[in-house]
Amino acid sequence: MIRIAIDGPSGAGKSTMAKLLAKDLGIDYIDTGAMYRALALKIFRTGIDCNNAEDLAKLLSTTDVDYEGGSVFLDGENVDGFIRTQEVSEMASVSSAIPAVREKLVALQKAMGQRKSLVMDGRDIGTNVLTDAECKFFLTASAHVRALRRAKEYEEKGLPCNVEEVEKDIETRDYRDSHRETNPLKQADDALLIDSSDMTIEEVVTAMKNVIQKVNK
Ligand code: DC
Repeated sequence: MIRIAIDGPSGAGKSTMAKLLAKDLGIDYIDTGAMYRALALKIFRTGIDCNNAEDLAKLLSTTDVDYEGGSVFLDGENVDGFIRTQEVSEMASVSSAIPAVREKLVALQKAMGQRKSLVMDGRDIGTNVLTDAECKFFLTASAHVRALRRAKEYEEKGLPCNVEEVEKDIETRDYRDSHRETNPLKQADDALLIDSSDMTIEEVVTAMKNVIQKVNK
């Protein structure tokens, strides 16, 4: 059994690398950000105020989030197509800082990590969810490089985009993710830091595979 934890700020390429590694090793990939996004979608759809503890507790106790076969399910509905909007990104960034939200999703993610080999990516996987993961990476890149990558994605989809705004947005989310009280974004002491600012996807994957091979022997 091998569990690979990949943490880092948004846009660092975590999910690209996690998917490639999972495919290569023939193991599952769990996108924990998608789980926070699904819960944010539910908050959005129901219109509750996520700062109202009573309403939030009620919503959490009646909501089911699952990640299976590369898709995220909210109360049994595949919501892959609804979680990448600007509104949901913003709501996920805010609601993921609330301890009750994290408590629910971290428990689910920890249970997933008990059962089988997997690659899990997020912000607190190495430090909190899979503290005993066999392999931990902290993947990062400068805010500017991440903004340029995001802008290229928008461009490819034919969507308008202002790089400066994207960079500002990335910096705001970085700050929020790494300064919240509960499970902030932080490199685990035993995680390998990879700064992909000047690296190609292939170079990053090769660096990760070299480490995994040593651990998996
Ligand atoms: O990786 P992403 O952008 O899809 O994540 C969406 C939001 O969820 C983001 O604001 C960070 C948060 N998140 C988190 O707090 N902990 C995780 N393990 C994964 C994501």
